[in-house]
Order: sequence, then C-alpha cells, then structure tokens
Amino acid sequence: MRTKMVAGNWKMNKNLQEGIALATELKNSVNTPACEVVIGTPFIHLASVAEVIKGSPIQLAAENCADKESGAYTGEVSAAMVRSTGATYCILGHSERRQYYHETPEILKEKVLLALKNDLKPIFCIGEVKEEREASIQNEVVKSQLEGSVFNLSAEDFAKITLAYEPVWAIGTGLTATPAQAQEMHAYIRSLIREHYGEQVADDTTILYGGSCNEKNAAELFANPDVDGGLIGGASLVAEKFTAIINAR
Ligand code: PGA
Repeated sequence: MRTKMVAGNWKMNKNLQEGIALATELKNSVNTPACEVVIGTPFIHLASVAEVIKGSPIQLAAENCADKESGAYTGEVSAAMVRSTGATYCILGHSERRQYYHETPEILKEKVLLALKNDLKPIFCIGEVKEEREASIQNEVVKSQLEGSVFNLSAEDFAKITLAYEPVWAIGTGLTATPAQAQEMHAYIRSLIREHYGEQVADDTTILYGGSCNEKNAAELFANPDVDGGLIGGASLVAEKFTAIINAR
C-alpha cells in the first residue's frame, strides 16, 4: 500500500515566531493521523520547527534546496544543510520556482539528485499552465517535466520520490481542478511511471494533488483512487483548516 500524505507548503509566509506558533498549534491538534503529515516551511524556520514537532508524527520539509553541493554560492542553502535541521523532505520543482526563479528541468534534476544523496525525500511538483490546459497539451507538459528531471533515476531512487500534480491555473486562484480532472491526470501520471518502472513502482508511488485544495473540497479530491493526498498552500497556514484536510485523508 502506498503512503497517503497531506503536506503543507507555507511558501514565503510567517515570520519565525509566527511559524513556531503555527507548528505548536499543529503539534497539539495532529495526534494520530491516518496519513503521513508534512509541513514545508521557509529555510529559517526549519531548525526551530524541528524542535517544536519533535515526538509528534509531523514530518518537516524545506521548500527548495540548492543545485550545488557546497561552497561559494552566496545566499544558497544546500540539501545537506536542510537535512541537518531535521527535515526529511524537500519540495522541489514548485511552479513558483520554475516561473519566478527560472528553474529549468536540468537544474531540478540536479536538485533532486542532491536531495536524494543527502537523505531528503523529494516532493516533486509538476503541472501545466492555463494556456497549456486550454490547448489540451497538459499530458505532454507533465510527461516532459517527469522525463526532464526524475525519470533518469534508478527504480530504487524513484521509489523515494513523492509527486505532486499541481495545475498552475489552480494554485492560489480558488479554481480547483475537478475531482475528475485530478483523477484523470493522476491516472495518466501513474501510467507513465508504469511504462518506466513497472507495475510495482507505479502502484507504490504517492501522487498528491495541489491547487486550491482546502477543507471543503479535500475529501472529494482524496476519494479518487489515484489521488493519494494533497499539497496544500493557503489552507496550510491555518491550523484548523490544515487539520481538517488531514482528517479528510
Ligand atoms: P494553494 O497552493 O493551496 O494555495 O493553491 C498550493 C501549492 O502551491 O502548493
């Protein structure tokens, strides 16, 4: 049985004190979740939040890591540094990183390799923009994102990856993909994994849905056989909402 998961992505929100307060609230409200629970926080929060959630079932993720191992890269944070905080996951390939920080498939391929090398499990994001969906080329887009950054991995390494399908037109817009749209794409993604890695790996890969997933629509999205959970932005910033989504899984 593949892992079911609800992961939060705080993005560039909350100062350190606010982040610690939110993590504390979550620690108190998430006790025996029926799925893996992950919170993705800005780099500066990681070490402190790791202390807060110690002993709870909540896992910690960074939202990015460098595409270089170490050295003279001012302002960058390496996968090894992330791992040393206690984080066990790393969100990579988020559309905001691709769009605003020009992260290419090649750069992301490096980041994935470095995350794995440093014992961080990537949560790798893929998804089409609005114009691509309107042109009905979403399958081709998602396929090339996978081929460009993760289908180079051995089956053993690929098994450490969680995928997050996030249609860019649904992120932060309130426009959620319909459960049928999500299921259709997730099943397609799983078929691509099957082609590359075979039945077992395809069955075992966790594929999250992200994009305006909230406490109201989560249950309906998660009810689909190929939707294994969610990557949650806005709704992960409010403890009650995030907890409700976890309870919907
Ligand atoms: P959203 O963000 O839930 O605010 O749409 C999701 C994401 O970007 O991971």
